[in-house]
Amino acid sequence: MRGDNKVFVTGGAGFIGSHLVDALLTQKTDVNVLDNFSSGTKQNIKQHLSDNSFKLVKGDLLNKKEVSEALEDCDIVFHLAANPEVRLSSIDPETHFQQNVVATFNLLEVARITGSVEAFVFTSSSTVYGEPAQIPTPEDYAPLEPISVYGATKLACEALITAYAHTYGFKVIIYRLANIIGSRSQHGAIHDFIKKLRSNPEQLEILGDGTQTKSYLYITDCIEAMLLGLEKAIKRVEIFNLGSEDQINVKAIAQIVVEEMGLKNVKFKLTGGVDGGRGWKGDVKNMLLDVSRLKSLGWKPKLKSEEAVKQATKDLVKEQNLK
Ligand SMILES: NC(=O)c1ccc[n+]([C@@H]2O[C@H](COP(=O)([O-])OP(=O)(O)OC[C@H]3O[C@@H](n4cnc5c(N)ncnc54)[C@H](O)[C@@H]3O)[C@@H](O)[C@H]2O)c1
Repeated sequence: MRGDNKVFVTGGAGFIGSHLVDALLTQKTDVNVLDNFSSGTKQNIKQHLSDNSFKLVKGDLLNKKEVSEALEDCDIVFHLAANPEVRLSSIDPETHFQQNVVATFNLLEVARITGSVEAFVFTSSSTVYGEPAQIPTPEDYAPLEPISVYGATKLACEALITAYAHTYGFKVIIYRLANIIGSRSQHGAIHDFIKKLRSNPEQLEILGDGTQTKSYLYITDCIEAMLLGLEKAIKRVEIFNLGSEDQINVKAIAQIVVEEMGLKNVKFKLTGGVDGGRGWKGDVKNMLLDVSRLKSLGWKPKLKSEEAVKQATKDLVKEQNLK
C-alpha cells in the first residue's frame, strides 16, 4: 500500500473488520469505516475514535447516500460488512440476499459512480465450494456448488465484483476464508460453547454429530494475509484461499473450550444434527483449503487449527460481553 492511500472498510466495527482497522492505523493509513452496528460494536473500535486518521460513519450499505458519504475519496475498499451467520441463512434467506448481495451491489454502484476506487478487497468464504470432491480444495476447483444460501450469496457477490472490476477498471482481491477465530468474534462454535457453558457448566450441547472437521485460522494470521495479498496481487482479479493447513473437529473444540474454562465432568450432548450429522442445514462437514497460492507470496500461518482454537478460546474467555 502507498503512503497516500485512503482506505474504506465496510463492517469495520465487526470482528475481522476491527482487527483490520487496528492494523491499518498502525501503518498510519487513513481509514473510513461504515458500520450499522447490527453485529459489530463501538467497543471494538473505541481505541481509534480520537485518531484524526480515522473516520466512523454509522450507516447502512442498503442506503446509498450513507455509503457515498463514508466512501468519500477512498481508493482502496475492504468490503467485509455482511450477515456472516451461515446457520441462519436457511431460516431467513431474504435477509442474507439483502445484506450480502444487494448491499454489495449498492457499494459497487457507489464505487462506479464515485470513480475513485483502485482496489476492491472482498471477504468471501470457503462455503462457495459447497462439498468439493477435492480436499484440500484449490481456488480453481469447479463446479462451485454452494450448499447454503450464505455460500450462494457470497458466490453471487464474487460474480458481481469481478464483473465490475473488468467493466469499470479496478483491481479485485477475493479471499475465500476458512473459519476465522480470535478476540471480538461474536459467532461460531467457540463463541457458542463459551456462552452455553457460562449458563450451564455441567452440560454442553453440540450441534451435529461432533465429527464436522474444518480449518480454523487465528485472526492475526488472517489480517497479515489480507494485507500481503493486496500488496502482491498482480492480475485484475486475484482469488486467494485463506485458512490454516490442517483441521480440527467440533468435539475436539468442545474439549478445548471446557479445559480452557477450567471445567470438569462436563457432559457432552450431541444433537445428532441433520442430513447425516451436519450441525444445521447447509453445514459443510469437511473443509480444508489449499492455501499454496497465498504461501507462494511469502505468507504462512503461525498457528495450526488446534493452537488457533486454544488461543481464540483464551481470548474469548476473557471477554465478558459476548452477545
Ligand atoms: N468469521 C469468519 O469465520 C468468516 C468466514 C468466512 C467469511 N467471513 C466474512 O468476513 C466478513 C466479516 O465477518 P466477521 O466474522 O467479522 O463478522 P461480523 O458480524 O463481526 O462483522 C460484520 C460487520 O458488518 C456490519 N454490517 C452488517 N451488515 C451491514 C450493513 N448492511 N451496513 C453496514 N454494516 C453492516 C456489522 O455490524 C459488523 O460490524 C463477512 O463478510 C463474513 O461473511 C467471515
